[in-house]
Amino acid sequence: MNYSEKISSLLKKGILISPEELEEQLSQEEPKANAKKSNLETTPRKEISETQNKIKIIFNYSKPSKKRLIEDFVSFFNNRFKSLEKIIRQRPELQNLISINKLKFKSEKENASIIGMISSKSETKNNHIILTLEDLTGCTTILISKNNKELHDVARDLVLDEVIGVSGTSGKNILFANSLVFPDIHLNRELKKSPEEKCAVFISDMHVGSKVFLEKEFEKFISWLNGETGSEEQKDLAEKTKYVFITGDLVEGVGVYPDQESDLSIIDIKEQYRTLTKYLKRINPDKRIIICPGNHDAGRLDEPQPAIYNDFAESLLELPNAIFVSNPAIVNIDSSEEFSGFDVLMYHGYSLIYYADNVPSIRAAGGQKRVDLIMKFLLQKRHLAPTHESNMYVADAEEDPMLINTIPDIFVTGHIHRATASQYRGVTLLNTSCWGDITEDQKKRGLEPQPARVIVLNLQTRKVKIVNFYNK
Ligand SMILES: [Fe+2]
Ligand SMILES: [Fe+2]
Repeated sequence: MNYSEKISSLLKKGILISPEELEEQLSQEEPKANAKKSNLETTPRKEISETQNKIKIIFNYSKPSKKRLIEDFVSFFNNRFKSLEKIIRQRPELQNLISINKLKFKSEKENASIIGMISSKSETKNNHIILTLEDLTGCTTILISKNNKELHDVARDLVLDEVIGVSGTSGKNILFANSLVFPDIHLNRELKKSPEEKCAVFISDMHVGSKVFLEKEFEKFISWLNGETGSEEQKDLAEKTKYVFITGDLVEGVGVYPDQESDLSIIDIKEQYRTLTKYLKRINPDKRIIICPGNHDAGRLDEPQPAIYNDFAESLLELPNAIFVSNPAIVNIDSSEEFSGFDVLMYHGYSLIYYADNVPSIRAAGGQKRVDLIMKFLLQKRHLAPTHESNMYVADAEEDPMLINTIPDIFVTGHIHRATASQYRGVTLLNTSCWGDITEDQKKRGLEPQPARVIVLNLQTRKVKIVNFYNK
């Protein structure tokens, strides 16, 4: 694979390091024998009954940070390619599947299929789309003719570094594409339903500590969740709610962007978490809270972000009913002897904006306002951030934690600050709202957040209600 551009950008960011630099750093490092161990745990606390409202952690990334070497980065991309290739290989559409280095033995106009990672994409003067596709054996050029309108429209949305299958006819050092195959979820999966009527609510992006934090609205939400306010129907929903998912950006953080201090009402990050803890402590302990971090939370920004368990967020330990997982993470809820439960894929969503801006059909449909389309796009690619540029990440040589290997029942993201719910092939797609008021700057940038909405998912019917606490 041609990694040089990606490697140089990671070296610049300090995410990758050369072997000589690593050697030098190791010799300078202090021994860490007495390093303080965090008290926060990623497992459920003892006070919670394990028979009701079960939570099982299916995927939680907890490997410590370390500098990665260039070889790690190469293994990371090779492993990602192999995992996605394995998924695509099972597709019946790919007849005469060969590796790229075998293409040269094909005579002209022979049918062939290959699987590869897109390392470049461009358009000819005549608007045909040209791709460079690479596998572990070599690379080739793919041409998608503008005369095949349907295929050309699909190809316009292709992004760099995604892995695809291509069927076509061979030419000299080129494959003329007839069809494209994505890893996708290729079967209509049955919509799983809980035998009992229970609900889960989904929130995120409280940004506590920001001057625009919607304190009254958040308090109203907590009162509703505890059955203290709302219509009879709303009280019933709250009563049935057993799970509260929080997908990141719990606090506004400090130093997230230049001159952020002037936007803060609480300038100490510990105090921001303490204030949030006070709110969350009021939630009835029979409701279980599942928390992953976002890009404003304390901790590293590279994804996967480990669970929030650092000293800054220590106050969250006081919550007897909370568990903390990485971003992304998969948790299974509500399983019993008779029911396998729901797999919930939680991802804060740092990469979402890249695809809102760079996928032509999503951009034309409204960009960030169509987060449902972005989530569907990521499921089709079976990856939370297929393009190298779309997030900051850990180049883990053993596994790619951003791969969507397990197809979830529920896929929830935040970060965009808009509340949406949709469905794609048996997966419920949810994007959570925020608890910061709409600012002039957001209006100027054409963003339209939808603050103070709560998504309530009925696990028995799989129907979604959005409760609106915003009344400005
Ligand atoms: Fe946010
Ligand atoms: Fe965010």
